[in-house]
Amino acid sequence: MVARGLTKHFPPDVRAVDGIDLNIGAGKVFGFLGANGSGKTTTIRMLTTLLQPTSGSAQVDGLDVLRQSMEVRRRIGVALQEAGLDLLQTGRELLMLQSRLFGLAGGRLKARVGELLEIVDMTEAADRRIGTYSGGMKRRLDLATALIHDPRILFLDEPTTGLDPISRDAIWRHVRTLNEERGITVFLTTQYLEEADRLAHELAIIDSGKIIAEGSPEEMKASIGADVITVKMPDGGASTEAAAEAAVRGMEGVEDVRSPDGNGTLVIYIKDGARAIAPVVIQLNQAGVEVGEITLARPTLDDVFLQKTGHHLAEAQAAAAREAV
Ligand SMILES: Nc1ncnc2c1ncn2[C@@H]1O[C@H](COP(=O)(O)OP(=O)(O)OP(=O)(O)O)[C@@H](O)[C@H]1O
Ligand SMILES: [Mg+2]
Repeated sequence: MVARGLTKHFPPDVRAVDGIDLNIGAGKVFGFLGANGSGKTTTIRMLTTLLQPTSGSAQVDGLDVLRQSMEVRRRIGVALQEAGLDLLQTGRELLMLQSRLFGLAGGRLKARVGELLEIVDMTEAADRRIGTYSGGMKRRLDLATALIHDPRILFLDEPTTGLDPISRDAIWRHVRTLNEERGITVFLTTQYLEEADRLAHELAIIDSGKIIAEGSPEEMKASIGADVITVKMPDGGASTEAAAEAAVRGMEGVEDVRSPDGNGTLVIYIKDGARAIAPVVIQLNQAGVEVGEITLARPTLDDVFLQKTGHHLAEAQAAAAREAV
């Protein structure tokens, strides 16, 4: 799957997807990580031929999404974020109906639906109404629907958003099995750092329509090249944050210093973090900055996000939520 300069502008001024390049190998699980409104669904809709790009190009399985859209559609399965399910239907009825649309009938239809229900562990619940399903069961049914025509490539738009940890784990397990045992290439979007980290072989982080980092989760975290010391400052106003940043910035081994959320938190990227903790505390105290709490960690994908954007992914989510109100 390849995208070059893929762009979608919504008039008058929304740059939902702003010139992204993608290069995704067959057989991979590709994670597309971003906050609310960053452009994930818009990208999926262009790659799945549901939305025409403003500019740029994309190929899926080597086929052009604009000029060969019918062939593309035959090879992909899509589970969209806002999938509307008929709550009065049973899971089996939905799969039968959808399978008929793909031209299946008679014994083949029945067998295929039975198989799909097995794949997503829904055989027992198959004859209950969808209205009685949990969120996780509905997402598994979405997954089964996307698999009807045995696609080689699967697009999943936020398959676990809003699910509890157990249902989320079940989806992860199914996605892994589909990828490892059936060789299906998976393009999945997520707002969850942990999901991107655990499930994706390759990853791109999208922020305001632009890709700000890409690589395997391990590569991304290693790119930070330092440990992360987080300091909570009890009297953390802007001037305290500025004083703290200035005090620490020149210390040996410091790669970067940030106070991302304006709430008295200082994030220090520093080599050999364990050894640096005591000197950091001393340095801050000498600068008149009180240290409330100090923690040391290996970099996470959130640190990658923070380093590239200046804010945490969670903070970007909160900001998007405020904007939406
Ligand atoms: N049809 C449309 N008309 C105008 N603006 C749109 C349209 N669709 C999306 N947008 C805008 O484009 C931006 C990207 O939206 P998109 O749905 O791709 O984000 P997302 O990453 O999928 O977000 P979420 O995590 O909330 O699903 C947002 O600012 C959104 O409001
Ligand atoms: Mg979306």
